[in-house]
Amino acid sequence: MLRQFGGVLIEPPVADIVAIEMEDRFGHRISYLRVSITDRCNERCNYCMPRELQEWLPRDEILSYEETLRLVRIAADLGVTKVRVTGGEPLTRRDVIDFVRAIPKISGISSLGISTNGTLLGRDVGGKTMAAALGDAGVQSVNISLDTLDRNLYAQITGRDFHAQVLEGIDAAIAAGFDQIKLNAVLMRGRNEDQLIPLIEFAAERNLILRFIELMPVSTTEVLTEQNFLPVAEAKRAIESRYGALIPEQSFRTNGPATYYQIPGRNQRVGFIGAMTNLHFCESCNKLRLTCDGKLRPCLGSYLEFDIMKPLRAGASDDELRQFFIDVVDRKPEQHDFRNNYQPDRKMIAIGG
Ligand SMILES: C[S@@+](CC[C@H](N)C(=O)[O-])C[C@H]1O[C@@H](n2cnc3c(N)ncnc32)[C@H](O)[C@@H]1O
Ligand code: SF4
Repeated sequence: MLRQFGGVLIEPPVADIVAIEMEDRFGHRISYLRVSITDRCNERCNYCMPRELQEWLPRDEILSYEETLRLVRIAADLGVTKVRVTGGEPLTRRDVIDFVRAIPKISGISSLGISTNGTLLGRDVGGKTMAAALGDAGVQSVNISLDTLDRNLYAQITGRDFHAQVLEGIDAAIAAGFDQIKLNAVLMRGRNEDQLIPLIEFAAERNLILRFIELMPVSTTEVLTEQNFLPVAEAKRAIESRYGALIPEQSFRTNGPATYYQIPGRNQRVGFIGAMTNLHFCESCNKLRLTCDGKLRPCLGSYLEFDIMKPLRAGASDDELRQFFIDVVDRKPEQHDFRNNYQPDRKMIAIGG
C-alpha cells in the first residue's frame, strides 16, 4: 500500500489503512475477532478442561491489556468491526471492565460482546453488578453458558456448584439491558438431553435467544467421545416433537455459525451450532481468534496458530503487525478439520471459545 508523492514512495497514514480488509483465499472477509484474555477459569466444565488441578500459564506469557488492545487496533485497521471477549472465564481477570471499556473507543469497532459462564455477572463491583458495569463499559451482547437447569447436573458438568450464581448472573444481565443476551447449551448425550425443553421454556420466560451447540473435539478431555456426542439434528427433532416443526429463519444472522429457527406459535428464536454435522458450517466464517498467550488462530478446528506475541514484544511496527494478520488470514483453511479424526493439541480453555 505504498503511494507515490512527487516521485517519493511514502507509507499511507493509518486513516487510509481503514479501507483495507482482510479476505482469505476462499473469499471470507474477516470482520470478527474473538479475543481470549485468560486461560483461567472458576469452573471445570468436563468438555473444556480436565478436572484435576490446572497449571495456568504464567502471567508474563499472557498478553497484557495494552498489548491486546494494540492488536485489536491493528485488526480494526484491517476491517475487523466486531470483537468478542472470551477465555477461560474472562470475568475472572483483574480490571476486565477497564479493558473492555477501551475496546469500543477503537476506531472501526462497532460491536462488542463477551462470552461468560455467567457466574460473576451478578457480583457487586463498586455498587453495581458486573453485568451493569460491562453494559456501562460498552458491551452490547453477552453470551452465557447454561447447559442445564438442574443444579446437580450443572455441578457434575462444570465441577462447581455455581448454578444459583449463574441464574443470578442471568437476571443481572437482563437488568443491565444488553442489546442481546444469548444462552449457549452444549449438547451431551445421556447428560442434558432431557434439558432441551426446560431450557427452551427458561429462555422463553426471559425472552432470551437459546442456542444448542454440538460437542467439538477442541480440548484434551476424556468426555469428547462418540458416545457423548448428540447431533443438533436429533436435538431439533426432539424439540419439534414437543412444539411442532421449527420455522427456519434464513435472514437472522448474529455474525456467527448458528442456524436459527422460530418456535411455531410463539415469538421465540432457537439456534443450532452444528459444527460437526453441518457441512456448510464454515461457509460464512468471518472469524479470527487471538489466544491469551498471543497466538493468532485462523480456525478453531485446525492446528494452525501463529505467534504474534513474539514480533509484538520484539518491537514490530504497526505495519509489520498488520502484515502478520494479513499473512495469517491468507492461511485460513477452507473448513475446519474436526471431521478428519481431529486430535486437539490444546485445551479449549487455552484457545478461547
Ligand atoms: C471456552 S468457553 C469461554 C467463555 C466462558 N467461560 C463460557 O463458558 O462461556 C466458550 C464456549 O465454548 C463452549 N465449549 C467449551 N468446550 C466445548 C466443546 N468441547 N465443545 C463445544 N463447545 C465447547 C462453552 O460451552 C462455551 O459456551
Ligand atoms: S466452558 Fe467456560 S466455564 Fe466451562 S471450563 Fe471452559 S472456560 Fe470455564
